[in-house]
Amino acid sequence: MTTADIRTAYLEFFRSKGHSIIPGASLVPENDPTVLFTTAGMHPLVPYLMGQAHPMGKRLTDVQLCVRTQDIDEVGDSSHLTCFEMLGNWSLGDYFKKGAIEMSFEFLTSKQWLGIDPTMLAVTCFEGDSDAPRDEESAGIWESVGIPRERIGFLPKAKNWWGPAGKTGPCGPDTEMFYWVGEGNPTGNPATHDKEWMEIWNDVFMQYNKQEDGSFVPLAQQNVDTGMGLERVAAVLQGVSSVYETDAFAPIVQAVNSAAVPSRGQKESEKDVRIIVDHLKAATFMLGDGVRPSNVDQGYILRRIIRRAIRSARKLGIEKSTGFCASIAQVVVSQYGDCYQKMKKEESVIQGALNHEEEAFMKALIEGEKHFQKVAERSTIVISGIDAFHLYDTYGFPIEMTREMASEHKLSIDEDGFSKAFSEHQILSRAGAEKKFAGGLADHSAETTKLHTATHLLNAALRQVLGDHISQKGSNITGERLRFDFNHSEKMTPEQIKKVEELVNVAIKADVPVSYSVMTVDEAKASGAIGVFDSKYGEKVKVYTMGAFSKEICGGPHVARTGMLGHFKIQKEESSSAGVRRIKAIVSGGPAEIEAAGEVA
Ligand code: ALA
Repeated sequence: MTTADIRTAYLEFFRSKGHSIIPGASLVPENDPTVLFTTAGMHPLVPYLMGQAHPMGKRLTDVQLCVRTQDIDEVGDSSHLTCFEMLGNWSLGDYFKKGAIEMSFEFLTSKQWLGIDPTMLAVTCFEGDSDAPRDEESAGIWESVGIPRERIGFLPKAKNWWGPAGKTGPCGPDTEMFYWVGEGNPTGNPATHDKEWMEIWNDVFMQYNKQEDGSFVPLAQQNVDTGMGLERVAAVLQGVSSVYETDAFAPIVQAVNSAAVPSRGQKESEKDVRIIVDHLKAATFMLGDGVRPSNVDQGYILRRIIRRAIRSARKLGIEKSTGFCASIAQVVVSQYGDCYQKMKKEESVIQGALNHEEEAFMKALIEGEKHFQKVAERSTIVISGIDAFHLYDTYGFPIEMTREMASEHKLSIDEDGFSKAFSEHQILSRAGAEKKFAGGLADHSAETTKLHTATHLLNAALRQVLGDHISQKGSNITGERLRFDFNHSEKMTPEQIKKVEELVNVAIKADVPVSYSVMTVDEAKASGAIGVFDSKYGEKVKVYTMGAFSKEICGGPHVARTGMLGHFKIQKEESSSAGVRRIKAIVSGGPAEIEAAGEVA
C-alpha cells in the first residue's frame, strides 16, 4: 500500500464505523500559548475532550500533520521524525476501551484493511500507580481479540500515559501497538525487548483532567484519543527497514543523494541525508502554514531546522550557496502538494524564503566554522559557555549545532556557562522558544477565554478601521495578554489604535450575548462570517456571533457575554514580519468567574 492508500484507508475505515472526517488543523496552533506547533491530533480537540460538544459529533477521525522537536536528536535513526502525519480517531464520551481496541485490531489485521499478520504485533498497557489502576481491562480485551499474554507488556506512566507534562489538561492511561522489527521471530513484548518492537499506534483513554496541584480528577466524559504514525505504518506495509525508504520519502532522499558528493563512510552520510530530508520536509510544511524564519517562537524553530539541514548538507559536500533547500522543497511539494493544497499554493513563497535563509546562513556559517576551528584549537575537553554563546549570537549557530561540532572534535560544551551567558544577554523571547520546544497542552482558563473573545472583537474592529483586507495571520493567547497578527503593510497611527480600542470597548459595554451555531462552511461563508475557509473534509463548523459586532468561524471557547471582558487596551503595535503587524493587548476589570458561551437554540 502506498502512503496515500493508507491515509485513505484509515479515514474510510473509521467513516464506516460512524466517524466524521474532520480537517487537520494548521501546524501553528490557534489560540494556544503553550505550544509552538501542533504536536498531536488531539491538540486542536482539547475543548471537546473537556466536554464541549463538537459540531461533527462524538466520533471523529482525521489526518494531522505534527511537528515534535523533542526527539530532534534521534532524527537519523530508522523511525524518528520531527515532522510526521498522525492518523487519529476520537470518541468524545462515546465508545471506550473495548470499542477502541477492537477497531484498532480490526483495522491493523483485517485483510480488507491493512492485513498485518497478528503474530508480528505486540502491545503495552499501563502498569498502574497511585493515580490510576493497572489496566488489566485493556489487556483482557487484547487477549479476547487474539493477542497472546506474552505479547502484552505493562509499563509505567513514563511510557503508557498520555497527557500534559507538568501542566493541566485531559490525560489518561494508554495502550500502544508495536510491530516486530528485530531479527528472527518475534520475541517477548516491548516491556522485555524494547529495541525490537517499533511503536505504530497509541490508543489513549482520556478520562482524567490534570490539575495545577498535580492531582488527576475524573473528566465528565470518558474519551478515546488515538494516534497512528503514518510513516511507520507505511514502512511496515512496504517491507522496508526505515521510514526514509517508503514511497513518500524515497524521492526526497534520492534528491538529496544526487546533490551530495560521496566521500565519507556510508553510515555517517546516511544520518546527514536523513536529517536533511526530515528537516527540510518540516521546514516546507511550516513555511506552507505561514511560518517565516525569525528569531522568536515558531520562526526561530524554523530557522534552527533549516540551519541544521544546511550544516548537514555541507558535511555531504553540498556547497551551493543558494538553491539547495528550495530544490528539496520542490520535491516535498510534489510528494505532498495534492494532499496539502496550501503548500502547493505557497510553493514560490516557500522557495523564496528558503533561498533567502540559505544565502544568509551560508555566509555566517563559513565565517562561524573558521571561528569554531580557532575555538576548538584553544579548548581542551570543554568549550566555554562564552565561546558557545558567541557562536550562537554572532554567527547564528544553534546550540545543538555547536554541540554536534564539539563532539566531532571530542569536546563538550559548558552548558551551564552557555545558559548563564544566554540569560545574561536577556534573549528572553528566544529563551521562551527554547522552553516551548518541549510542547504541552492548552489552557482554557477564564482569563484566556476572555482574551480569546476580545481577539474576535479586535479582529472585527481592525477590519472597520483599516479595511476588509485585514485577516488573521496568527494568534497566541496567554492568561495575561492576547497577541494578534494580521496582514497590513503600514504601522498603525495612534488615532487608528485609539479608534480600534474604542470600538472594542463599545462592544464590551453593549454587553451583547456571545453564542455559536453549527453550519456548513458554505453556510458560514454565506452568513458573512470571517475566518479560515480552507477546510478540506470539514463539512460543519462553529460560527461564533457577538451581537452585530463579530461573526467568525472558530472552535471556541468564548465567554457568554461581551460585558465579562471588563476593559480592553492595546499595549503594543509592531511589525511581526514583512507585511504582517502584531498587536498585544489586555483586558482588565472583568469578573473572575466567567460563564462560557453556548450553542444558540
Ligand atoms: N495523543 C496520542 C499520541 O500522540 C494519541 O500518541
